[in-house]
Amino acid sequence: MTKILCIGAGYVGGPTMAMIAKKNTNVQVTVVDINQQRIDAWNSDNLPIYEPGLDEVVNEARGRNLFFSTDVEKGIAEADIIFVSVNTPTKTFGHGAGCAADLQYWEKCARQILEVATSDKIVVEKSTLPVRTAAAMERILNSGRNGAHFDVLSNPEFLAEGTAIADLDNPDRILIGGHSTPEGKKAVQALVDVYAAWVPQEKIITTNLWSSELSKLTANAFLAQRVSSINSISALCEATEADVGEVAYAIGTDSRIGPKFLKASVGFGGSCFKKDILNLVYLCESYGLHEVAEYWRQVVKMNEYQERRFVDRMLKEMFNTIAGKRIALFGFAFKADTGDTRESPAILITRELLEENAEVVITDPQALKHAEQDLADVIDRVVFEPDPYKAAEGAHAVALLTEWKEYKELDYQKIFDRMAQPAFLFDGRNHLDHQELFGIGYNVYSIGKAP
Ligand code: NAD
Ligand code: UGA
Repeated sequence: MTKILCIGAGYVGGPTMAMIAKKNTNVQVTVVDINQQRIDAWNSDNLPIYEPGLDEVVNEARGRNLFFSTDVEKGIAEADIIFVSVNTPTKTFGHGAGCAADLQYWEKCARQILEVATSDKIVVEKSTLPVRTAAAMERILNSGRNGAHFDVLSNPEFLAEGTAIADLDNPDRILIGGHSTPEGKKAVQALVDVYAAWVPQEKIITTNLWSSELSKLTANAFLAQRVSSINSISALCEATEADVGEVAYAIGTDSRIGPKFLKASVGFGGSCFKKDILNLVYLCESYGLHEVAEYWRQVVKMNEYQERRFVDRMLKEMFNTIAGKRIALFGFAFKADTGDTRESPAILITRELLEENAEVVITDPQALKHAEQDLADVIDRVVFEPDPYKAAEGAHAVALLTEWKEYKELDYQKIFDRMAQPAFLFDGRNHLDHQELFGIGYNVYSIGKAP
């Protein structure tokens, strides 16, 4: 029986390995992590991440051929294929701080694999990494004298949170990078076989290692660039009475442009877009490609502009003062269907509102626990309220920041009746029926549309 190990039981490691175990009943999959609490949660009925459909997949495979453990060394010793799916955040110190990827967790794994392994292994980069990281990995792994041979592959993950299970079940493609040596090809084939259990062959792309590593950063940069592009146009729409929804539809029907990822918003969040673009920027800088670096840096700058613009607009429309006014934020997660708040625009927006001495009330169906952690330093100044009706009680404004389906289904007349008047509604996702809200009596402001 092939034994797969995944180091890192996070948003990627957990769901990805659960799907591999579900689809390959003849493979034993173990997911390890140094975080005991996380592993305990993976072994419980209360999984550590909220993801539609995840419970079913885990329940089907857990205890059969899917295991969660903190015994990293045992896992390494036994495995044939080791996925490394640890966090690769932006560096906060030293050279490249604020831009480069912090590779310390990654390198620790490489060293631990080398220390413990006594048999040949395929080591798979699942984390998102700078191009040519595999070269460093190979040098570390092959520096040992234990006789074991290591093949390093790149297999970046493209799932999006909130749709992880659907994305894993039916991916646009699986990307596997490896060397074109006979050993490299054999390793690639071993990984192809794992995915071929449910992914059609034509969707499994094999490339050289560096192309695979760089494709991941490039895909995220292109996706984020589309959001920043439409958000930049939303500012122009507000100034000219064009409607960004109509513009997005009109350009999206051009088959060369396509309709996806053209939804203007309060800004993109999530743990990866900003981090991966900055990583790309840093890489370009380190190869002396300053113009290329500057080009991509602008995508992040535009996103920050969009987040601040949202607060500026709230302030301006509410008579240039929000001091002492209660503002209810509907949604704190960086997108719907996840409890994840990493880099959520809601974090900056809350802080900016507090700067103006507003009273902020936050509601979210899944993300309140993380919101409390994100705002730990200002926790006394913020109210967390699971019930959106209560959150809006006495509020001067509601600002919708996450496109939860639930928020479409609320009784906005009831909310209006409980709010201070005039009641303002800022829809940061163009998610609600603005005509209806206007009819109730709200002052409605959306993204990319003149009021
Ligand atoms: P995460 O922070 O949720 O999980 C990483 C886990 O690795 C943590 O639980 C941590 O305790 C564990 N870990 C760190 N060092 C370890 C070690 N030495 N031994 C054992 N465990 C260790 O991160 P994530 O969101 O799952 O992302 C992981 C990687 O995947 C990142 O490189 C990210 O860029 C990439 N990625 C993320 C997503 C996403 O949607 N979140 C999608 C595609 C790719
Ligand atoms: C993104 C990519 O979509 C995944 O392919 C990738 O694997 C992942 O990053 C990663 O590397 O971590 P994710 O961040 O989970 O996935 O979610 P997205 O659906 O991409 O949304 C990112 C942000 O952009 C969200 O805040 C979302 O609200 C925003 N967005 C997205 C818009 O504002 N408008 C859009 O049209 C689309």
